[in-house]
Amino acid sequence: LLPQELIRLKRDGVSLPAREIQAFVQGIADDRISDAQIGAFSMAVFLNGMNHEEIVALTTATRDSGQVMQWDALNLPGPIIDKHSTGGVGDLVSLVLGPWVAACGAFVPMISGRGLGHTGGTLDKLESIPGYNPYPTPARFGEVVKTTGVAIIGQTGNLAPADKRLYGVRDVTATVESIPLITASILGKKLASGLDALVMDVKVGSGAFMPTPEKSRELAKSIATVATQAGTPTTALLTDMSQPLAPCAGNAVEINETLALLRGERPHSRVMQITRELAVEMLMAGKLVANREEALTKLEKTLTSGAAAEAFARMVRELGGPADFMEHSDSYLATAPVIQAIYPEQSGIIQRIDNRAVGMSVVELGGGRLRNDARIDHRVGFSEIAEVGERVDNQRPLAVVHACSEDAAAQATGQLRAAVTLGEAAATAETLLQDTF
Ligand code: URA
Repeated sequence: LLPQELIRLKRDGVSLPAREIQAFVQGIADDRISDAQIGAFSMAVFLNGMNHEEIVALTTATRDSGQVMQWDALNLPGPIIDKHSTGGVGDLVSLVLGPWVAACGAFVPMISGRGLGHTGGTLDKLESIPGYNPYPTPARFGEVVKTTGVAIIGQTGNLAPADKRLYGVRDVTATVESIPLITASILGKKLASGLDALVMDVKVGSGAFMPTPEKSRELAKSIATVATQAGTPTTALLTDMSQPLAPCAGNAVEINETLALLRGERPHSRVMQITRELAVEMLMAGKLVANREEALTKLEKTLTSGAAAEAFARMVRELGGPADFMEHSDSYLATAPVIQAIYPEQSGIIQRIDNRAVGMSVVELGGGRLRNDARIDHRVGFSEIAEVGERVDNQRPLAVVHACSEDAAAQATGQLRAAVTLGEAAATAETLLQDTF
């Protein structure tokens, strides 16, 4: 079919044959399809949707539009598993989870992204560590995965190149919020890293990428079924993002927290509860354990023995960071010139947090990007963020702001106060793990 014929069929609500979708996606990767045609196709899919078979075809075609990693030659003595999240605020899960499951015998070749909108990016956080190189050669990436069990790096140009063009056009044609397009975009990239299994963390709540709980649920279902049918067994967890997951948001501040968590300092915190749930799923998907109890025992052991922390330290060292980062992180992580507590204007119990607003405030402090070519300030953000249900007053601040100037700190103070709703009623946080697909 000519591209315009395929677009016409989708425009008129016809289901497309898999081979036509493949040819179109290959045409996107080869530059034979124009941006205008990509835009029209995306809008037709946005408006008319796709059935399950079409989404599987779009996903596999996106995956196969560039290099698909092969791990056979490395003879890894364990399963290759990864986790992907739709992103959020204070979501440092990947940084703890990757090394932790690696310490349990999994191999985790994690391709991560930069901050998107109000959400933080794992890659930006890692770049707070001086020398950390998230763009090793493919051969070096393989070596680090083999020797350390985990390597968290950035997306290279040759991985799912069709998505790179498609996503760029969607971004400027109001066609991002489409379940079929999001499913194929996320999975096309993830499945190109040659995984045995994938665990997906789909967020729900005011800091989530999807606008409503129903849409988050629909996306989780779509991702789990499409990925599994595309040949990569996948479980999707629906988890709460209605307040910052860790008590901090930013880049260096989240690395600091990661180190504390890997040292086992806060095993029952909300972020560790979610990380543990995802780790259990990964160990079970990789058949490294027979059941949940065995997974929990293994995770406990590798955390308390220091094996998980050691895997993180080794990854940092192997990718160019300081050899003694774990021991002397304070001398490596830059700190902001202005660090001050944000007290509430009146005391009260936190009822709700507009989590998206917290994320946007971090972006405005300089911790994220307003334009995609902007440099970010790794030092800034919030730490010690109080939780829903906690009482805040002139002793317990809402958070501590880390800013590059007094003016920036004052602006963030106003934004954080506005993002938090206080009251006198007791309040409980949303359930952390809301569903599994
Ligand atoms: N993240 C992606 O990679 N793709 C989407 O379409 C949305 C979020």
